[in-house]
Amino acid sequence: RRHKGATLGLGPDDAGIARAAGILREGGLVAFPTETVYGLGADARNAEAVARIYEAKGRPSFNPLIVHVASVEEAGRIGELRGASRAMAQAMWPGPLTLVLPLREEAGIAPLVTAGLSSVAVRVPRGDVAGRLLTEFGGPVAAPSANPSGRVSPTTATHVFKGLGGKIDAVVDGGTCDVGLESTIIDLYGTPRLLRAGGVPVEDVEEMLGMPLIAPLPGEEITAPGQLSSHYAPAGAIRLDATEAREGEVMLGFGAVPGDLTLSKSGDLVEAAACLFDRLHQLDAMGAERIAVAPIPEAGLGRAINDRLRRAAAPRD
Ligand code: TXA
Ligand code: MG
Repeated sequence: RRHKGATLGLGPDDAGIARAAGILREGGLVAFPTETVYGLGADARNAEAVARIYEAKGRPSFNPLIVHVASVEEAGRIGELRGASRAMAQAMWPGPLTLVLPLREEAGIAPLVTAGLSSVAVRVPRGDVAGRLLTEFGGPVAAPSANPSGRVSPTTATHVFKGLGGKIDAVVDGGTCDVGLESTIIDLYGTPRLLRAGGVPVEDVEEMLGMPLIAPLPGEEITAPGQLSSHYAPAGAIRLDATEAREGEVMLGFGAVPGDLTLSKSGDLVEAAACLFDRLHQLDAMGAERIAVAPIPEAGLGRAINDRLRRAAAPRD
């Protein structure tokens, strides 16, 4: 499904929810209210739908996204919930708390959602409209805040229409979000760490855990935890803007530039974004030590693809 034309305004009644769930099933983009802010949702198992989230927001980088589900039980099928994380999930969900958990590969979450990581951010939002939409859809929904990149998060349907009208398929109007700021994010993949302060007070989380959370390092940007070193990068050395492979290189093609693998034969940036992390993992699986990558246009989703490739090509320790 490709968005064309005007954005549909949907009511929070059963007919509106059913329509919204149908659009998600077809791979469309639907903005919906949660208790924190409006999210821009797509089926988290559909890589091209997820790529279009980045396209619609004009986001110049692939930060991993939060996966929204209807229940603790469903959350446990996406990420591993055990011991402290299960207790925290049961006590705090539904609510404005996001937990970063070990990813269950069998859940089929698109690698673009996790930016290729082996962890996944999951939450069960509170709020009648979000709950009914997620239940009706019956699967995981990837959703960042429903605003153009770099702009303020939306707390009403009107904000969403102003920012993304014409660029997404539909907006479900559920009135004003009651929390009005994003969820608190706790990393439970390793030692519990605060990644973002938000709707649940950090003190409440610490009390539940029975221990203080590791605070971000001085000067560390806690609002963009997924951005730097923790990101997945292939083991091989990467050469960008290559028009052909040199001796010993594995070539990753794009458009008219062929390769051993390609991001998109037809030069489609949505397709390239959707398979980028799959291709990087494939290069690792092939044991590629030196990788040449075809030029990707620096426009639209190409900016985010190039950002990711430049990070992967940068010298590492
Ligand atoms: O309240 C909210 O959380 C809203 C509503 C729509 O649910 N969503 C939201 O999403 O704020 P977004 O994409 O703006 O923020 C997601 C944050 C990013 O900072 C990202 O780096 C982090 O979650 N994140 C996602 N997956 C992660 C992972 N596996 N490891 C570390 N951080 C992760
Ligand atoms: Mg945001």
